[in-house]
Parts: sequence; C-alpha cells; structure tokens
Amino acid sequence: MMEEPYYRLHAFCCTNVRPEQHPRGSCARKNAVALRDYLKKSAKEKGIDGVRINASGCLDRCELGPVMVVYPEGIWYRYENESDVDEILEQHIEGGKVVERLKLEVEDGP
Ligand code: FES
Repeated sequence: MMEEPYYRLHAFCCTNVRPEQHPRGSCARKNAVALRDYLKKSAKEKGIDGVRINASGCLDRCELGPVMVVYPEGIWYRYENESDVDEILEQHIEGGKVVERLKLEVEDGP
C-alpha cells in the first residue's frame, strides 16, 4: 500500500537569472522572483495545507517563462502577473482544477 505523500502538491517556480543579453532569456528577467514570492505568501495567508511552493533553477523552457510546474500532475504554466498567480493558486493548488488558459502543452516551445 502506498503511503500518503509528505506534500500533496509541489509547485516549482523557475527563478533562474541569466545575463540581460542571453539569447534564451530567463525567468528572473521576467519578474519570476517577485511572482514566486507572491505565490508563496498568498498560499501561506490562505492557510493551504499540504502544499509546498519552491523556487527552482532553470526548467529548460526559458523562452516561455516565467514558468512553473505543478506536481503530482506535471502541469506547466506560464504566468505573467499577480492575477495569473491568484488564478493558479485558487483554481489548481487549492481547488485541484487545471487552469487551461495558462497551461503550457508538451509541444509548446520557443
Ligand atoms: S530560465 Fe526559467 S526555464 Fe530556464
């Protein structure tokens, strides 16, 4: 029998930074650090149990950034502002419903 996981959900938000002129860009140059901090703070304020919001290094989808990936589902999102973060938090992280509007498909690329 499978044990209950320590966290029911993990969100990994890329906060990698590259030099300004790097051809692939980087999530931190597109406000990822502030948005990840906002997501973490909002999740804490809502008192959502069993979830962990982590900063991550490069997830290798830099051109699409800022990106995050949510497990256990393995759903990827591109998010641009606090309103996008609110939607991901309320609908998916809290409610378990994928935000189709912000979801990245496997085949999405640069
Ligand atoms: S810099 Fe964010 S995915 Fe590479």
